[in-house]
Amino acid sequence: MAGRPETSLWSLVTCRAVEIEASTESPLATRADTVVIGVFEDEGVAHDLPGGALEALLDSGEASRSLKRIAVTHHDGRRVLLAGLGPRTSFDGEAARLAAASAHRRARELDTETLCWELPHHVPDEIVAGLVTGTVLAGYRFTRYRPAPPDERPLQRLIVSAHHDVAGPVHRAAVIAAAQNRGRDLANTPANDLTPTALADYATELAQAHERLEVTVLGRAEIESRGMGALAAVAMGSDQEPRLIELRYEGPQAPDARLAMIGKAVTFDTGGLALKPAPRMAEMKFDMCGGAAVIEAIGALAQLGAPVRILGLVGAVENLPGQRAVKPGDIVTALDGTTIQVDNPDAEGRMVLGDCITHARREGCDAIIDLATLTGAVEAALGWAYAGLFSNDDALADTVRASGERSGEEVWRLPLHPIYAEQTRGQYAQLTNRPEPRVGLASAAAEFLHHFAGDTPWAHLDMLAVAFKGRTAYLDQGGTGWGVRLLTELALDFGT
Ligand code: BES
Ligand code: MN
Ligand code: ZN
Repeated sequence: MAGRPETSLWSLVTCRAVEIEASTESPLATRADTVVIGVFEDEGVAHDLPGGALEALLDSGEASRSLKRIAVTHHDGRRVLLAGLGPRTSFDGEAARLAAASAHRRARELDTETLCWELPHHVPDEIVAGLVTGTVLAGYRFTRYRPAPPDERPLQRLIVSAHHDVAGPVHRAAVIAAAQNRGRDLANTPANDLTPTALADYATELAQAHERLEVTVLGRAEIESRGMGALAAVAMGSDQEPRLIELRYEGPQAPDARLAMIGKAVTFDTGGLALKPAPRMAEMKFDMCGGAAVIEAIGALAQLGAPVRILGLVGAVENLPGQRAVKPGDIVTALDGTTIQVDNPDAEGRMVLGDCITHARREGCDAIIDLATLTGAVEAALGWAYAGLFSNDDALADTVRASGERSGEEVWRLPLHPIYAEQTRGQYAQLTNRPEPRVGLASAAAEFLHHFAGDTPWAHLDMLAVAFKGRTAYLDQGGTGWGVRLLTELALDFGT
């Protein structure tokens, strides 16, 4: 493995954590070598430099108040970036993340070591979090196999300067964004290194680092002997053993209500005997992104000491067409006794999740949320703007949607319907994993899961289109770590 930086906590992640702090000193009084000052449309610069240098930059047209625009000047041996923030009324968390990503990019070009953002006046904590998150995510590099070139020195430190104490929101956003970056490392690590066993070992290390976090890992023999026939079937074609990773977190003063977070972690999806054509197989190392989000969200909640009760279940498995692979038409029995005809070995995610959902229900969880890169159909329906949300419970669906909005990981609700459920009825078994006819496939997959969820409040996020190939300034190529922010928001909101 190529040079792992000392700042790395665990063996599987190599991304560096930027140091982040809040300060009530004015930006120029901090030790930052570069300061960012934002300016809203139709407003003046709140604290200009002596002589009105920043207003002068705006007057000359060199600087602009439009969002994402950055101008550079100097004062007292330091660089000062003037960042356009756009209209105050539309400056929300997303705008803050974008502004921060623009400033970060310019700061890096200037070889900045310590960057200080002056928090604009009269903004809510969402903006504080957005500036931190945008900077941390924009600073991510995947360096596991190829260190960054020496002339590309990463930012070392971020200071958020404000008149009032913003240490709380700064710390929270820093912890969550760092967890999201670790999720990106897990996603980007190829399947030869990120095996189900490696992922389970990582979760184990994570649990050891946090007192209130406990982990149990089941292997092939236990998965089979407990009757998780659907999960076990997916694992048949690979020599890599499957792992069912259970994470239990109980924070101080946690409410009684317990939320189950379930993640699909197919560490590589060849399609099994329904082998994917090469171009469509290319990115299948990313088929574990739901599981990565669950692990990292729970890690972040544990690090924050959040007052919540969570059961995390990650079904980690490789879908390969080996000698013993499940064959089209094979019928297997799921944990709850449901018989499933495996008509398409490439529809493996729902098999993994089905058994995890039954397991969560048997544990007595009050609500369940699952995350999975499940169907191409959801990308066709929603594109890159939203993950698909499916739920049997309107109140839970609203809570999830609101968490998505607050975190900037947005979801759009798509329907369940008995007609979709009918498409999942098997010819010789209770269910088929290949819906017929081949329409409404994201909803049909959700109805397959609904069968296992029954009437336990449950929400399913089909995150296929948002899990990798990030398309914003603060998330560029590779795994996005999508879901870490939404899940932490949801947990903090759940049961309170
Ligand atoms: N892992 C795939 C979905 C996927 C596709 C993830 C592209 C990331 C990028 C999933 O297991 C799958 O194969 N889904 C099939 C289901 C079908 C065979 C019923 C799909 O949606 O095409
Ligand atoms: Mn598949
Ligand atoms: Zn898959």
